[in-house]
Amino acid sequence: DDRLKAELLAVALEAATRAGDLLRDGRPADLGVAATKSSAVDVVTEMDIASEKLITDFFAECRPDDGVLGEEGASSAGTSGVQWVVDPIDGTVNYLYGRPDWAVSIAARKDGETLVGVVHAPVRGETFRAVLGQGAYVGDRTARVRPAPPFEQALIGTGFGYVAERRAHQAEVARHLLPRVRDIRRAGSAAIDLCDVAAGRLDAYYERGLNPWDFAAGDLIAREAGALTGGRPGEPLSGELTVAGPPGLFEPLQALLDDLGAWHD
Ligand code: IPD
Repeated sequence: DDRLKAELLAVALEAATRAGDLLRDGRPADLGVAATKSSAVDVVTEMDIASEKLITDFFAECRPDDGVLGEEGASSAGTSGVQWVVDPIDGTVNYLYGRPDWAVSIAARKDGETLVGVVHAPVRGETFRAVLGQGAYVGDRTARVRPAPPFEQALIGTGFGYVAERRAHQAEVARHLLPRVRDIRRAGSAAIDLCDVAAGRLDAYYERGLNPWDFAAGDLIAREAGALTGGRPGEPLSGELTVAGPPGLFEPLQALLDDLGAWHD
């Protein structure tokens, strides 16, 4: 109900702000790689770990019965039915290099539905948020997708995984797509890409191989801003494929990506 949504939004905004302050103000000058995951370039920094700890400690304090799923390993079922889905730094490679496009992404789900999404990008100075059924905002302004342009004038965002074989195929898909559109952007944060669709700064976005923490908040923000989101035609968005864009562009992009095999490696 609306009271629960309002409480979850307040908690998500506070957690994202605290983590964002820690990450922006506490970034060590000599920040290095603490660990690697799927490949040698899939990195975790000490700050990813510190940010996830701050966020999960905060939830434990103010919503102790909720479950948590976090990129750096937080995983608990909880008893309230609410599950938090957390990316403590989406765009870790940007953060490592001191590039501005990284964000803290926090979503709250209940009964398989995302109720609240917050994507806080401290260096950009922007916070995106959405509540199911209540629209999307960037700061205090309503976020709205750009109306669909003709396909060949679309500015499309995408991203690449960290494993070489997957990337080789992703490059192949992009090779076919690039000559058919205005241009392609690779910003380095899936959460921000989805918010950029919501704010009309990209026409559409797609990527294969995301995890729930990359897209949970951004998916709701994009949908509440008027985007359609999904996976392969007729399927919901998932790790297999994530596509987001306004009606009129979403469908042909989804169909083309399906033809190009963007959903497999
Ligand atoms: C990554 C970013 C990137 C996307 C990768 C993600 P991380 O998340 O969202 O844009 O292309 O697929 O893994 O590792 O920085 O949290």
